[in-house]
Amino acid sequence: MASHKFFFLIVLTALLLICTNALSPKELQCSSQKVHLTIYYDTLSPSCEEFIVFELPKAFELDFMPIINLRLVPYENAYIQEHDTIICQNGPAECYLNSIEACVINIWPDVNKHFNFIHYVATQNLGGIQSKANAWKSCSKITRLSDKRVLDCYKSGSAKKLQLRYANETKHLDPPHTNMPWVVVNKRPIYYDYKNFVSYVCEAYQGHPKPSACTSLIFSSAKKSNSWFYIYLFLLHLLFCSPLGF
Ligand SMILES: *[C@@H]1O[C@H](CO)[C@@H](O)[C@H](O)[C@H]1NC(C)=O
Repeated sequence: MASHKFFFLIVLTALLLICTNALSPKELQCSSQKVHLTIYYDTLSPSCEEFIVFELPKAFELDFMPIINLRLVPYENAYIQEHDTIICQNGPAECYLNSIEACVINIWPDVNKHFNFIHYVATQNLGGIQSKANAWKSCSKITRLSDKRVLDCYKSGSAKKLQLRYANETKHLDPPHTNMPWVVVNKRPIYYDYKNFVSYVCEAYQGHPKPSACTSLIFSSAKKSNSWFYIYLFLLHLLFCSPLGF
């Protein structure tokens, strides 16, 4: 009798794994459309810095990066006064750094390159360095992105144009942004759940196979997987607690 039970246990376990992995109808379609992941942030906002330093690097896992189109938009809570003067929540140092990062993104559009820089700046600022505005120069050395090109962009007025473009994009967000950072997955904001952006991207991704970052989320996030898990527990209960002895 015991060996029967273990046989059923193995069958049930196999079924659970098959159901949680493969039965989602979305996954049966094979499309390789990238998921748009856009991060609206401000350079000196602590919640944004923490997100950039500790959470966003998850996007760069080897098999996750190829399924997303990641964009960073350093502007979120800034606003424009008369004569196109930009005012930033955390003062002129933040406006300066937003502009510097806009230049870096524009000069090195490859997200692998400019994210290194942006990550380094955020790490330094979180670390509480004194002169926040000037610390980016050491970042450009470390990440080997020429600070001369960045300064040329800043001084030439390109930075201002880039900021105004971001301002316009940020202003037209629908729904409008509220919390920081504002993380949008295929045009849908994920509000305060931004630290879980990986599971939203996985859900939005129609292609197959899913990256390993998605399959490791089976038990932690997907609600449908939870329900399979409860069915499994119920069947286990029947198997081991049935008065008929199965
Ligand atoms: C501002 O953004 C809207 C919506 O994204 C776009 O249609 C429009 O062309 C933009 N205007 C400028 C001046 O960039």
